[in-house]
Amino acid sequence: MSQAVSYSIRDKIGVISVKNPPVNALSQRVREGILDAIGKARKDKSEAVVLCCEGRTFIAGADITEFGKPPMEPGLPEVLSAMENLNKPIIAAIHGTALGGGFETALACHYRCAIASAKVGLPEVKLGLLPGAGGTQRVPRIAGVRAAFDMITSGNPIPAKIAHDMGLINEIIEGDLVEGAIGYARDLVDSGAPLKRIRDINIDSATIEPGFFEQARKRANARARGQIAPDRIVSCLEAAVELPIDKGLERERELFRELVNSTESAAMRHIFFAERLAAKIKGLPRETPVREIKQAAIIGGGTMGGGIAMCFANAGIPVVLLEINEEALDRGMKIIRKNYGITVKRGKLTDADVKKRMGLITGATDYADIAGADIVIEAVFENLDLKKEIFARLDATCKPGAILATNTSYQDVDAIAAATSRPQDVIGTHFFSPANVMRLLEVVRGEKTADDVLATTMGLGKRIRKVCALSGVCYGFIGNRMLTGYGREAQLLLLEGCTPQQVDSTLEKFGMAMGPVAMGDLAGLDVGYKARQSRNTEGDDPRPYAVSTRLVESGRLGQKSGAGYYKYDSDTRARNSDPEVEAIIREEAEKFGIEQREISEEEIIARCMYPLVNEGAKILEEGIAQRASDVDVVYVFGYAFPVAKGGPMFYADQMGLKNVYEKVLEFQDKHGEKNWQPANLLRELAESGGSFAAWDKQQG
Ligand code: CAA
Repeated sequence: MSQAVSYSIRDKIGVISVKNPPVNALSQRVREGILDAIGKARKDKSEAVVLCCEGRTFIAGADITEFGKPPMEPGLPEVLSAMENLNKPIIAAIHGTALGGGFETALACHYRCAIASAKVGLPEVKLGLLPGAGGTQRVPRIAGVRAAFDMITSGNPIPAKIAHDMGLINEIIEGDLVEGAIGYARDLVDSGAPLKRIRDINIDSATIEPGFFEQARKRANARARGQIAPDRIVSCLEAAVELPIDKGLERERELFRELVNSTESAAMRHIFFAERLAAKIKGLPRETPVREIKQAAIIGGGTMGGGIAMCFANAGIPVVLLEINEEALDRGMKIIRKNYGITVKRGKLTDADVKKRMGLITGATDYADIAGADIVIEAVFENLDLKKEIFARLDATCKPGAILATNTSYQDVDAIAAATSRPQDVIGTHFFSPANVMRLLEVVRGEKTADDVLATTMGLGKRIRKVCALSGVCYGFIGNRMLTGYGREAQLLLLEGCTPQQVDSTLEKFGMAMGPVAMGDLAGLDVGYKARQSRNTEGDDPRPYAVSTRLVESGRLGQKSGAGYYKYDSDTRARNSDPEVEAIIREEAEKFGIEQREISEEEIIARCMYPLVNEGAKILEEGIAQRASDVDVVYVFGYAFPVAKGGPMFYADQMGLKNVYEKVLEFQDKHGEKNWQPANLLRELAESGGSFAAWDKQQG
């Protein structure tokens, strides 16, 4: 038997135990081991069989690393069929998370028991897939088609107790799971319980309301932002209702194969692993010590500071919010309370949850109140002198060993660290707005940041449920530095003849949550305007700011003033094109002598995406980012770049780096030397037929 699976008989009950750390994924040797064990159990004297797992979880799914490689026997459907057709009861004993192929394995058993803390789910859609081992056929047979639709298209796991109410779990076990499962198996045998095969349940199509699938498809597509997996899931559910189970399983397999070979799923699998890899710092030993974080403090109770405080409270870490006076503090606390109120209204938190979380946030106006904090995060506005002043004060106030973090988006972390006598304790923690919602945390390592400070901050990021990516110090770090070219090209496209709607809808069709022009309106056009006023813009190219400046000076600040590049409906906030803005754009184009023309969608995408790729490549060659896949993580989790495109660097690999490089050269020729200076790394990889993925691997 494969070492990943063991088989023994206890009290006449066969126990198949899977041991494939870390998450008992269904790798080839696990499938083989289960099949062997079933073969044994079929013939031996055991009266029933329990399938359980060692370690932290029941099987958490297929082994994702095997996707895209030649299939290895035995396939999962063969294993599940052997289980389902076993001549004695087989019972899944679930703890941790039974996900994807893991839950499908449990569904092929005759009975399922679980401890109350377990969760079950079919998260394949999050990898651009559908449950390919019977999930779409078996879940609707037990829980109904509507529940199956919600479960499979959302991909969200369900607590065992709810799964029990839905009929997906037969028994909740108190105490030791394996002992309990053996006892449950014994009871089933003693009571002569039948071999309950889900495949034998018929779905009564009369219970499905007319038009259900049409509606389901619409809902799935509306949520999916161009992804194909949700649509194929609906097709499988239709098959579950219309076809006998074997035909339904065939249909499911066929559509699974289509998805597993799609670029969309490859991109989403890339992001799954990239997210986990980004947490690993090259050259930082695993055993690097970490500092204990029991108490946090945030300086500045504005939108950002308040959002960060919420992240700590949500993770159960006490946090002090420091403001300059009571009035500002009150304002900050009110915003936090309001934000929690919205979550309660949406049914995602109870009043008791909010009370508990608010209880972890304490207000303060005196630096002495944060002297005992283990980490202080400064979140005041972007002014280097102010930040330096605050850090000097923190240096004088905070206890030795406290981590001093700055939530700057652009400023020089080393200059801020130099304002203290302990630069080794200083680090950048760049949150994204709204900080309590956005998943990304860019962790910025200063020249002198100590290893344990870095390791602690990365661990803390995970604790407050962020996806961390490491950046070195440069203007704008990874994300905002890359964004400059993206925003610039969107503006130049307007001057060259695109309407705001054309630029935004093209990029939204590409998969961006919101186009760059509408994003400017959402953020407020006055923000950039004020920033330009406060710095020396001499020598800057004025074209990318010309329209925005005109809009601000005519009182159009974006959504908050009801108009910016668009006019906004005061009730629905729907955006509408405005001929007045189009006239302003034409006037500005004329001033710069830019001739307006028809611009294709293809050009809009290339003009906006390739600056991201080119700057990303520069960031890699300078060592600012550790890996191309980290850059993708930054964009997917911080800038709502479509996960189904895998991030800008993965996208560039799909387009072919030679093609990307040639386009960059073409744009350089047409639009100017300075903006389109190709990165050396892009040139080298294009000329050698390389890719960012291969480059990552080579770098180790
Ligand atoms: N295959 C291969 N490796 C996996 C894996 C899988 N299904 N799930 C997790 N891993 C790896 C991770 O990459 C990570 O590796 P490193 O330590 O080298 O970084 C390690 O296991 C631990 O994972 P996490 O850091 O995510 O651990 P966690 O405790 O935070 O979360 C988890 C555990 C909830 C199971 C989470 O890993 C997860 O959601 N995994 C994916 C589950 C999934 O999508 N299953 C469906 C697969 S597709 C399928 O099953 C198709 C089908 O129909 C047959």
